[in-house]
Amino acid sequence: MSYLRNAWTVAAWANELEPGKLLARTLLDEPLVFYRDAAGQPQALLDRCPHRFAPLSMGRLCDGGASVQCPYHGLRFDGSGACVHNPHGDGRVPAAARVRSYPVVERWSAIWIWMGDLACADAALIPDFSFNDPAHWAVGTGSMVVDAPYELEVDNILDLSHIEFMHPLFASEAVRRAEVTCEQDGDTVWCKRFMADDREVPDFIRQVFQVNEGPVDRWLHVRWNAPASMALWAGGVAGGRPTEQGIVSQQAHCFTPESRERTRYFYSIAFPRAMGPMAEELAGQSVAALRGPFENEDKPIVEAVGRRMGGAALFDLKPVLLPGDAAAVRARRLLHAMIEKERA
Ligand code: FES
Ligand SMILES: [Fe+2]
Repeated sequence: MSYLRNAWTVAAWANELEPGKLLARTLLDEPLVFYRDAAGQPQALLDRCPHRFAPLSMGRLCDGGASVQCPYHGLRFDGSGACVHNPHGDGRVPAAARVRSYPVVERWSAIWIWMGDLACADAALIPDFSFNDPAHWAVGTGSMVVDAPYELEVDNILDLSHIEFMHPLFASEAVRRAEVTCEQDGDTVWCKRFMADDREVPDFIRQVFQVNEGPVDRWLHVRWNAPASMALWAGGVAGGRPTEQGIVSQQAHCFTPESRERTRYFYSIAFPRAMGPMAEELAGQSVAALRGPFENEDKPIVEAVGRRMGGAALFDLKPVLLPGDAAAVRARRLLHAMIEKERA
């Protein structure tokens, strides 16, 4: 299956893009170089000089970010991909000296990239992750590389019935027994899991939701947007209390394929700045606490699943379907349809 190109996807967390530095990253099988220009705005270019194809990411930024200098023979390119300096001959810039540039937008603590048709690159299409707006939220961010197709990561987040079996820190039978609904709103898919009256609440969950004793009503709402940008609201309140009184943790789980077999996973957790200095501390601590299960529990299983599937398409292997699969199957069908439409 090919990639969905006409969609915004996360290329990096904003804090990965340090002023004065070049960041090399392969996405959708294309080598890219990212940097901040003289105004601090993110830029993305194909990481391949049009002269003798040296990676621009091995070069350097010039004039405070106004251009990138190729490490090999010194051609310089600006953020639009135009060659702005040729140190050779009479200095005339050959017409073909141009590198592909990609629309990028810094929004909600992330750098979003559009790798499709330029005419359709409307920033209004970036899915809403306003809970990661650094002006109002302290955002803890993390990322990792997973050696598996990105669709398997989408399946993993849309079907959280695996929590009981995979994650001792959050495990409780209630998650599996939850009332689960799958909803579709346009091109957005939701999986909503409500765990009423959970009585075997793990300590970690009690701490997060600040319910020291008695049953807890909990919920996990996951939203999917193509190709693999997901938001997760994990809420909890003392059993029987209105859900509006609960505490909700807001997380991003965004996946961008590097290749068909390798995925870059961006995750975050946000706390309102209204909490004061504690918010920053909590964001840092929580993202560190999540890293363990994501790296040591989800990643090895998802990678092993990918190996067992051996590159076959999911439905060709005729998977057994369980109730928790509804949202993941819906999202996958929608994604396939979008890719087919784009190719047509
Ligand atoms: S390869 Fe870039 S200037 Fe020669
Ligand atoms: Fe998990």
